[in-house]
Amino acid sequence: MDKQRNVAVLPGDGIGPEITEEGVKVMKQTGEQFGYRFHLDFGLVGGSAVDRLKTPLPEETLRICREADAILLGAVGGPAWDRNPPPLRPEKALLGLRKELGLYANLRPAKLFPGLAQSSTLKEEVLKGVDLLVVRELTGGIYFGEKHTEETKAGAKATDTLVYHEHEIERIVRRAFEWARERGKKVTSVDKANILESSRLWRKVAGRVAGDYPDVKLEHMLVDNCAMQIIRRPAEFDVIVTENMFGDILSDEAAILTGSIGMLPSASIGEGNRGLYEPVHGSAPDIAGQGVANPVATILSVAMMFRHSFQDDEAARAIEEAVTRVLDRGARTMDVAAPGHLALSTEEFGDRVVEELKKHQ
Ligand code: NAI
Ligand code: MG
Repeated sequence: MDKQRNVAVLPGDGIGPEITEEGVKVMKQTGEQFGYRFHLDFGLVGGSAVDRLKTPLPEETLRICREADAILLGAVGGPAWDRNPPPLRPEKALLGLRKELGLYANLRPAKLFPGLAQSSTLKEEVLKGVDLLVVRELTGGIYFGEKHTEETKAGAKATDTLVYHEHEIERIVRRAFEWARERGKKVTSVDKANILESSRLWRKVAGRVAGDYPDVKLEHMLVDNCAMQIIRRPAEFDVIVTENMFGDILSDEAAILTGSIGMLPSASIGEGNRGLYEPVHGSAPDIAGQGVANPVATILSVAMMFRHSFQDDEAARAIEEAVTRVLDRGARTMDVAAPGHLALSTEEFGDRVVEELKKHQ
């Protein structure tokens, strides 16, 4: 019997629509082969929603997301909206969606595909075997703490606060351990426990949760040291779990391990199976409309959708293997093509992934 799933598709701005189209193509092909029946709802988000409906996150878009089993998002933003006042900023839609849907865990896997080491700025021998997962806490920490600016006799004073409740730490660390169990069986919990009170709590909770996962190794690492180790010996990491801002910075740093930002997928999930899947990169206004963007980040985000929202590891792996085989044959989009080599268009690359998928038994 067919597995029925509702998916909200939010193409967004810039290259968003181009890469989303390839993601949907791969999703439909995978669905056909693995017995899914998809109902797709397309919604406006970001700058294009501001232009048409005067809001970056229209009520109708929120409605289809709430009713969806999974959400596929392209990217939002661009120079056309850079001068908009805060309520009309395209990024507002991202924070709004995460908060509305309670998506507290952001997963950013960084894996080096064979043959792409030369596209990275790091040495090939450092990159060998890189396959890590950054698990970033997404709805707490310093980005969500109380903030204000006040005038004092000595001039302006600005305050941000970093707050964590025990239960917020526990739920994200627990998920990190669950994923580590299925991967390399190691969790690196990253904090600044030598200085921050919230980090001392983080470390204590991580240590307690580890007791439930005797098969997974836990190590604690200070965030400054982690920033160094990620480029010094990246292959030694498996799952990294950390606070919102630390995770934002470390996952961008991890992005350079893979050769191009066009390769990096992400998933944001909460309780239950619903998730939001999107490439890590932005709307790339410099190449928008040219049909040259790398669709791999979006296609791998679709693989994450099958894994995390549909609990279908086999379908996820089929997509990942298809991408690997297309890359193995030397097919590249412009951002990762070797000098002098012919680069494929966004659509051509997506077509090749679909062709490879069809060979999956
Ligand atoms: P960006 O990720 O859009 O682009 C950075 C560089 O990487 C550009 O040279 C771009 O051409 C290239 N690039 C990005 N994705 C690519 C792909 N799939 N294939 C080939 N090359 C790719 O970041 P930037 O330029 O800082 O931001 C542009 C706009 O995107 C801004 O308005 C920003 O606010 C927004 N943005 C949106 C995000 C989202 O929707 N989640 C995340 C980051 C930025
Ligand atoms: Mg960032």
